[in-house]
Amino acid sequence: MILVTGGAGFIGANFILDWLQVTDEPVLNLDKLTYAGNLENLASLAGDARYVFVQGDICDRPLVERLLQRYRPRAIVHFAAESHVDRSLHGPEAFLRTNVDGTFTLLEAARAYWSELPAAEKAAFRFHQVSTDEVYGSLSPEAAPFTEAHPYRPNSPYSASKAAADHLVRAWHRSYGLPVLTSHCSNNYGPYHFPEKLIPLVIVNALAGKPLPIYGDGQQVRDWLYVGDHCAAIRHILAAGRPGESYNVGGGNELANLDIVQKVCALLDALRPRPGGESGGESDGKSDGKSDGKSDGKSYARQIRFVADRPGHDRRYAIDASKLERELGWRPAESFASGLAKTVRWYLDHPDWVARVQSGAYRDWLQTHYGEP
Ligand code: NAD
Ligand code: DAU
Repeated sequence: MILVTGGAGFIGANFILDWLQVTDEPVLNLDKLTYAGNLENLASLAGDARYVFVQGDICDRPLVERLLQRYRPRAIVHFAAESHVDRSLHGPEAFLRTNVDGTFTLLEAARAYWSELPAAEKAAFRFHQVSTDEVYGSLSPEAAPFTEAHPYRPNSPYSASKAAADHLVRAWHRSYGLPVLTSHCSNNYGPYHFPEKLIPLVIVNALAGKPLPIYGDGQQVRDWLYVGDHCAAIRHILAAGRPGESYNVGGGNELANLDIVQKVCALLDALRPRPGGESGGESDGKSDGKSDGKSDGKSYARQIRFVADRPGHDRRYAIDASKLERELGWRPAESFASGLAKTVRWYLDHPDWVARVQSGAYRDWLQTHYGEP
């Protein structure tokens, strides 16, 4: 089996769902269930004997050691992290704790477990660090995209904590021989994305008649990748990546934030036109939600509001993923247009998921589903 950390989050949940569609190899999901962990993402696996969930903290070394001894995974895929840049600016401590101490704890527990494995299992074992393109820092408009050789220049507490974790992972390979793999992915989007991040926030706010906040001038560029393509890339790297190597993962979809928001608005305009009547898609978010069933004929784009910029805001990320394509044959399956349309439809089709995330009811899932206190 494989051990996945942070599997109740956005990418981890997509990864587990994809994994169990393409293989029968069991998955142990270790997740603390912070605000970002949502077991409802994995509700379709209820009763599936290939899936085990343990609520726990990656900083809890005795727990991690017990799990490794009991389940004897052949690989660890490490997603667990505090992941939101804006939260890291308000409260960096949790980022240092989970992203740095947590990765250190996992590495030490993995090293102890791995060093005792029989030779063949030892050689086959992998520790996959799911990192980010943000560790490379910010690019000027004309600079070439990040390659794996780009120096680390993190600019936010989040990216600094991920960079620190990556350095530990690298050192555990060089110093102790632990067979590690590191991937640096660009911005993901898709189903189960927590609506604090740009794309799901814009979808959810637009439908609620609330403002669509754009930081600064909205000309910051990100390189967007559909989450399913990231999951496939991790499977490729886990299967055939060379221990000690890093692989960039990206979609080659560089877009300014304002363009992204306008594209989301255009999709919503086509699929779910703004309501008319009382609610009228009011942009102050104070409407009473009543609609006469007709559209007001205006675009959701009228809800866009420019707000104060994010401190230290990275201007541009762009990924050169040619190493992954050349060495392991990975290419994204989704274009940005197809992936974004799928994503917007997913949110329109899952109003209950959105409502339970917004009300906080998703955090009752353990009680609702397992009857736990
Ligand atoms: P997320 O915030 O949606 O999910 C994080 C998960 O980790 C949650 O389920 C949370 O409960 C869990 N977690 C947090 N602290 C924990 C702890 N101490 N012990 C155990 N579990 C803990 O994050 P995401 O967007 O799914 O990102 C997953 C990983 O991918 C992160 O490492 C992130 O740095 C990386 N990444 C994300 C993106 C992106 O666009 N979202 C892009 C590149 C890389
Ligand atoms: O690049 C990979 C990274 O992508 C991951 O490592 C992070 O975990 C993930 O959160 C994401 O970081 P970003 O900061 O790029 O994502 P976010 O969705 O928070 O913001 C995307 C861009 O949109 C960024 O330039 C900030 C801007 N933004 C964001 C929000 C939430 C706005 O303009 N308004 C907003 O309200």
